[in-house]
Amino acid sequence: EIRSFDLINKTQIPSLGLGTWQSEPGLVGQAVTAAVKIGLALKKLFEDGVVAREDLWITSKLWCNNHAPEDVPIALEKTLNDLQIEHLDLYLIHWPVRTKKGTAGFKPENLLKTDIPATWKAMEALFDIGKTRGLGVSNFSSKKLGDLLKVARIPPVVNQVECHPSWHQTKLREFCKSNGVHLSGYSPLGSPGTKWLKSNVLEHPILTSVADKLGKTPAQVAIRWGLQMGHSVLPKSTNEARIKENFAARLVRGDFLVNDIYGEYKTVEVLWDGEI
Ligand code: A2P
Repeated sequence: EIRSFDLINKTQIPSLGLGTWQSEPGLVGQAVTAAVKIGLALKKLFEDGVVAREDLWITSKLWCNNHAPEDVPIALEKTLNDLQIEHLDLYLIHWPVRTKKGTAGFKPENLLKTDIPATWKAMEALFDIGKTRGLGVSNFSSKKLGDLLKVARIPPVVNQVECHPSWHQTKLREFCKSNGVHLSGYSPLGSPGTKWLKSNVLEHPILTSVADKLGKTPAQVAIRWGLQMGHSVLPKSTNEARIKENFAARLVRGDFLVNDIYGEYKTVEVLWDGEI
């Protein structure tokens, strides 16, 4: 079973994450809570010993209005403070786009020219002092990723981009692979809840017919497609039943069916006769 992928900086990114884009602020806490199975948010989870910080992978992103090198540490600190944690596992540049400090949205007059090398240097300084265990980018083309790889002292380990059965990212995936950059897929379901994006990924006839055949939901097939392509995937949901459904897209290997002493199978490999 693909539980995680090795990154070149020797950390392991989970194969399946929980997306949060466009969640109502209150609902994100509920979703995290649902995902880790208790009724309180991160700090309480740690305090109560329900889950340890090292058992969670937490990725966050630097928003476009904080690209100025002096703003980068402030932005990360705010994130750490919001989440009540000491460090991130991964910090990404959200878009290769820069906007004026303090502005929201993408009004044309707020757009500025980027200086990715300068922004990256500020991110590297945060890596150096342990505020994040890894650095990466999001929404970077092969060209932009290649430019960054040329100047980075700490190389980006992940490029998180939209990726699903209707947008394969073939070229970028190959570029990432040959440069040791892991590709994470966001909107793996095609963001069906986003009104301004026309999305019918989950209604695609191939997906629905595979789902019917396997007795799975179209969402589960879309998630498995990503995993089997070798991506980590980040389906967003604030609904506990759908979070469970999405995490059930992984293989059931049957670890609970094997035993050293009892029964027929000592290992999962034997159970599957070496075919997994
Ligand atoms: P909800 O949060 O109410 O579950 P993406 O990850 O591609 O951006 O898609 C997120 C959207 O898909 C959200 O609107 C989410 O709604 C919905 N969604 C999440 N999981 C499923 C699922 N298993 N089946 C159908 N829709 C889902």
